Amino acid sequence: MKEKLSFSPDKRTWSPSPLLGQIVLVTSLNEDGQSNVAPKSWLSMMAFEPPLLALGCNLAHWTAQNILCRQEFVVNVPGDELAEVVWRSQTLPHPRTVERIGLTPIPAQVVGPPLIEECKAHLECRLAQHLAFGAELVLLGQVVAASMDREAVEADDPYACLRLFTFLENDTYGVIEKGQRFRKKRSSGC
Ligand SMILES: Cc1cc2nc3c(=O)[nH]c(=O)nc-3n(C[C@H](O)[C@H](O)[C@H](O)COP(=O)(O)O)c2cc1C
Repeated sequence: MKEKLSFSPDKRTWSPSPLLGQIVLVTSLNEDGQSNVAPKSWLSMMAFEPPLLALGCNLAHWTAQNILCRQEFVVNVPGDELAEVVWRSQTLPHPRTVERIGLTPIPAQVVGPPLIEECKAHLECRLAQHLAFGAELVLLGQVVAASMDREAVEADDPYACLRLFTFLENDTYGVIEKGQRFRKKRSSGC
């Protein structure tokens, strides 16, 4: 039998981490209508109908406050070429607009917060519900519109184009470099 080492349930201590969190840039709107950007990685789809995603966010963060107030946000999906910008962005003081982190805001299809042009895909969300656990919030967003760079949609391997990246542990990320498809096994019988 393989030896198993136990480790703490406290995620802050996980090294290596057994779970991944895709890195995204969430845009929301401040009270004065300016955009706010923050990197997030506690994010996953939760349901098909309605299309629901969950985002874990500290209640004190501008992102959480903006979403509770305006009920809308955009999940912008960067490729790993933006990794440095993403990490640096969290250290910039507020107000932290899209322009302030050196990227370009463009209008969303149906929600108020902007898309980030340099990101490759965008999920426009309306807040459906939220759950509070002490200082942390789980925000459930219904995806009401979505868009992606044509280049990625039409690429032979869209994943090689998207280069999605994921938080592993402190200052460490991983990159999806290509998509791998299962090859259907040929049945020998007929
Ligand atoms: C790669 C990365 C992933 C992060 N993921 C999260 C997250 O999922 N939830 C969260 O509350 N903070 C996360 N943070 C920290 C916030 O981005 C950071 O505290 C930021 O300044 C919050 O900005 P805001 O107050 O504008 O929301 C992450 C930071 C980085 C660099």
